[in-house]
Amino acid sequence: MENNNALLTITNLVKHFDISGGLLEQLTWEDWRIVRRRTTVKAVNDVSLSIRPREILGVVGESGCGKSTLARAVLGLYPPDSGKIYYQDNRIDHLTSRQMLPFRKKMQMIFQDPYASLNPRMTVKRILEEPFLFHKRSTTPNEVQNKVAEVMQQVGVEPSWATRYPHEFSGGQRQRISIARALMVDPEFIVADEPVSALDVSIQAQILNLLMKAQEERGLTYLFITHDLSVVKHFSTRVAVMYLGTVCELGATGELYQSPRHPYTRALLSAIPELGRQKAKHVKLKGEVPTPIDLPSGCVFHGRCLYANERCTQEIPKLIDLNSGAQVACHGVEEGRL
Ligand SMILES: Nc1ncnc2c1ncn2[C@@H]1O[C@H](COP(=O)(O)OP(=O)(O)OP(=O)(O)O)[C@@H](O)[C@H]1O
Ligand code: SF4
Ligand SMILES: [Mg+2]
Repeated sequence: MENNNALLTITNLVKHFDISGGLLEQLTWEDWRIVRRRTTVKAVNDVSLSIRPREILGVVGESGCGKSTLARAVLGLYPPDSGKIYYQDNRIDHLTSRQMLPFRKKMQMIFQDPYASLNPRMTVKRILEEPFLFHKRSTTPNEVQNKVAEVMQQVGVEPSWATRYPHEFSGGQRQRISIARALMVDPEFIVADEPVSALDVSIQAQILNLLMKAQEERGLTYLFITHDLSVVKHFSTRVAVMYLGTVCELGATGELYQSPRHPYTRALLSAIPELGRQKAKHVKLKGEVPTPIDLPSGCVFHGRCLYANERCTQEIPKLIDLNSGAQVACHGVEEGRL
């Protein structure tokens, strides 16, 4: 294992999706013969990270860079193609549903869209009771009722509203209920996938504060996924920047925002004036994000990078440790020219 003190350790995780379709869809006509071609989306490619207890690890990156796939693999919802995932000392990738049960209680997920993730036909009471009863079978009705009221109070939703249905609440309140559902089983680790992206800016701050408060009171650990760099800046302990299924930079939040090293991180930060350094110019990237079906050779960022050289087009850069404790995957940084 990579990091013995970590709550969660991911090593060399790979997750690809075969989207070839049926046999007929795979057959194409090339050079006067029929050949069979498979189409694979290379969503997550050789990702290694660890998350320490009580840490908030922000994962940022543009749409389609593999953030949700990573999150789902961590929770055992997608079996990885290769690589390992440990929860403390326990290897949890490729467990059966039954073997995964004790970890399901420790690891909970909060989704982006509270409209879609709450069953519209269930009252809030039932929504909250369900995970509690599933994981804690020997319990009295009184205990369940007290727990529902306690957690609703904690997330700032009036407990007497437990008999209402999700559509009777606003977006922010629904996300509070999603958080309550995750907290019902007293988890240790929460994967929050874009938990505030669907909410108005004013509500976003309230939900972030609530997540912070829950983290402090319960000593929680978060894997916090977002495409919005301004969200993780004030929220995360460390930040991992993803591009096309790989982690290109990982470091303590303050330092990463102050002195980003990877050209992609620099470009992302410079696009947000209030976040970029005072004198940072907006770095415009060349071209578009390539498709994860046909990954570029070498550094996946080379086609858009102003500093790419011959080596960058051929050799995949590995994450290297910098003196600061940060990690960056860039030949330019390793060669001392960036
Ligand atoms: N179940 C699936 N089957 C096929 N392709 C998938 C599947 N899930 C994700 N993908 C593809 O994998 C790539 C990564 O998707 P993913 O949802 O992990 O990205 P993301 O970073 O979460 O994006 P977003 O910010 O839009 O949520 C995308 O190209 C996506 O289309
Ligand atoms: S490895 Fe090369 S192409 Fe990739 S980010 Fe660094 S300098 Fe740019
Ligand atoms: Mg996603």
